[in-house]
Amino acid sequence: MKAAPNPGRFALRIAILSLALVLIIPIGVVAIGSGLGVIALPYQMFELASRAPVLFPAHMLSSALALLLAPIVIAARKHPKFHRPLGRLLGVFVVIGGLTALPVAVMSHSSIAARAGFFVQGVVWISLLGAALLAIRQRNISRHAQLMVAMAAVTTGAVWFRLMTGTAIILELPFEPIYGFAAWAGWMLPLAVVTFNPRLVTAVLAR
Ligand code: HEM
Repeated sequence: MKAAPNPGRFALRIAILSLALVLIIPIGVVAIGSGLGVIALPYQMFELASRAPVLFPAHMLSSALALLLAPIVIAARKHPKFHRPLGRLLGVFVVIGGLTALPVAVMSHSSIAARAGFFVQGVVWISLLGAALLAIRQRNISRHAQLMVAMAAVTTGAVWFRLMTGTAIILELPFEPIYGFAAWAGWMLPLAVVTFNPRLVTAVLAR
């Protein structure tokens, strides 16, 4: 017998889809523009780009492509023909985006709190990818899925970070402390949501 449709799950899927369309795509596209040098960076970032002329654009481009590709790879999870090659490509973008983020965080002139937040985010990002790859090599599909969703949650940190810092600018709140807070909370909150609600993840991933 066919299971009755679950309105809660349907609403959750619509919410996730809207989030992807409204936030992830514009933020990813702008980051690609910044990485290619066709969209101007804020002054401090422009200055950072002149000190790291290869690493910083490589970070912006690879991380933006990872942000855009992650939902596609997750959506294609039941289609190995697409999921495998796109997943490998996503892995390459995360490794480049994460490894370049570490020296960029060290070279940045932002507050020490913000730089530490970015640095730890980069380490956690790459570690989750590595653990997810190890899980799939061991044929542990559910662990692979949980870890990849956790990795994607950390990726969305770039989105929540910009929402938080953008709100601080609009509301004229003290920028530097909020920038430092957002560099941690932006990725730790979504990571906590998916880590402490494995059932939610399973429900969303279930057909
Ligand atoms: C997930 C791990 C990530 C880490 C550890 C990280 C790290 C960093 C760091 C350290 C900076 C310099 C910030 C500063 O000096 O204050 C930066 C800037 C930037 N990152 Fe990332 N990042 C990550 C993900 C992403 C993603 C997914 C995107 C895609 C949108 C992205 C795009 C950018 C862009 C465009 C900038 C330039 C500044 C701006 O536009 O706000 N990063 N990142």
